[in-house]
Amino acid sequence: MKAAVFHKMGDISFDTVPDPKLEAPDDIILRITTTCICGSDLHIYDGFIPQLADMVVGHEFMGIVEEVGPEVRKIKKGGRVVVPFTIACGNCFFCQQGFHANCEHSNTKNYGPRGDLMKEKGGALFGYTDLYGGYDGGQAQFVRVPRANVGPVVIPDGLEDEQVVFLTDIFPTGWSAVKWGKVKPGDTVVIFGSGPVGLMAQKSAWLHGAERVIAVDPLEYRLNKAKTVNDVDVLNSEDDDLIQKIYDMTDGRGADVAIDAVGMEANRTFFEKAKAVINVEKGTAKVIDLCTQAVRRSGTISVVGVYGSPYDNFPIHRIFDKGLTMQFGQAQAIMYIDQCFEMVRQGKVVLDDIITHRLPLSKVSDAYDMFKNKTDDCVKVILKPGLDN
Ligand SMILES: NC(=O)c1ccc[n+]([C@@H]2O[C@H](COP(=O)([O-])OP(=O)(O)OC[C@H]3O[C@@H](n4cnc5c(N)ncnc54)[C@H](O)[C@@H]3O)[C@@H](O)[C@H]2O)c1
Ligand SMILES: [Zn+2]
Ligand SMILES: [Zn+2]
Repeated sequence: MKAAVFHKMGDISFDTVPDPKLEAPDDIILRITTTCICGSDLHIYDGFIPQLADMVVGHEFMGIVEEVGPEVRKIKKGGRVVVPFTIACGNCFFCQQGFHANCEHSNTKNYGPRGDLMKEKGGALFGYTDLYGGYDGGQAQFVRVPRANVGPVVIPDGLEDEQVVFLTDIFPTGWSAVKWGKVKPGDTVVIFGSGPVGLMAQKSAWLHGAERVIAVDPLEYRLNKAKTVNDVDVLNSEDDDLIQKIYDMTDGRGADVAIDAVGMEANRTFFEKAKAVINVEKGTAKVIDLCTQAVRRSGTISVVGVYGSPYDNFPIHRIFDKGLTMQFGQAQAIMYIDQCFEMVRQGKVVLDDIITHRLPLSKVSDAYDMFKNKTDDCVKVILKPGLDN
């Protein structure tokens, strides 16, 4: 089959690889109809999350079930499913509490309680490096989906791929961000990052009754997208008065909830990059710092942007002084996918209005380049293996 293969930093190509096969009795094989590139894929592409061997990448996908193992119960051959990005057993201590990204059984080689830099990581993710289980991803014509009784959700006829494909990751991620922020009716929510995840967090904040949603991003075209599709207030992160403007919009207090939908690859000055080299840091925690400033005292910060490094000068003093609550981590995609699906099914939210590019899978190298460099006003790319036939 053909698939997007990561070789080394900046090098993902459309290659021929072996077809996936059923390996366990609860596996399925999926023929991918739609797959997407995520900001998280960029951390591998940019070398921020290390991967030494070649690997089929991609964790956002849906498709048609081609083969089912003998112990697969809820899914039938020929069905259409969307697959959450985490691979989980569904039974362990963490899965039973809805923390499937911490599954004790899916990442057999590198799982552990310590959460170190290069070992003892969390549960497995599709196409997300050997550290996270070494499973092939779904930017491919076909993919093996392990633990198929747990993650995949059957999509009924009448809903197009584009309406539901973001249930695989970014909508439940935006939803998790808002749940973790404990957003309640009347709240003001400031969301850093107006990429795909930030846009989904904006939608989720409205769905949870927020009174005001403020989007922050350095890119005007992404702020315009946020205004158009989500009717939010916008502020440019390069604005010297950014934090004061947030105070001015919130009676001088700060937002009730701040969400980091940027992560460690936030825009940086030359000086900030040099400091990171000296401190042996990958990227920056500057958006977390901005969140601690922008949120009100006793407020909540929710971090879904990815971090893969410790940071010097982490603003722990301010977190203490303001009495902040923080939650970080991989989204609870499996836990929230049904709730999120209901929002779509009942027409309470539209997700596909963020798509800017639809390309055949064979264009995957160009697509990564465009999404990374934010050219052609790119917000979200979906790849269609079917367009190559
Ligand atoms: N926790 C999870 O389970 C989960 C799931 C999906 C994605 N993510 C992460 O969410 C983050 C965003 O993903 P995405 O797909 O939207 O990626 P993206 O790269 O398209 O979006 C990031 C946005 O942040 C903006 N930005 C850069 N510096 C900024 C700053 N200082 N202030 C405000 N905005 C700034 C960029 O211009 C861009 O629009 C990534 O770190 C990704 O890995 C996490
Ligand atoms: Zn993703
Ligand atoms: Zn588990």
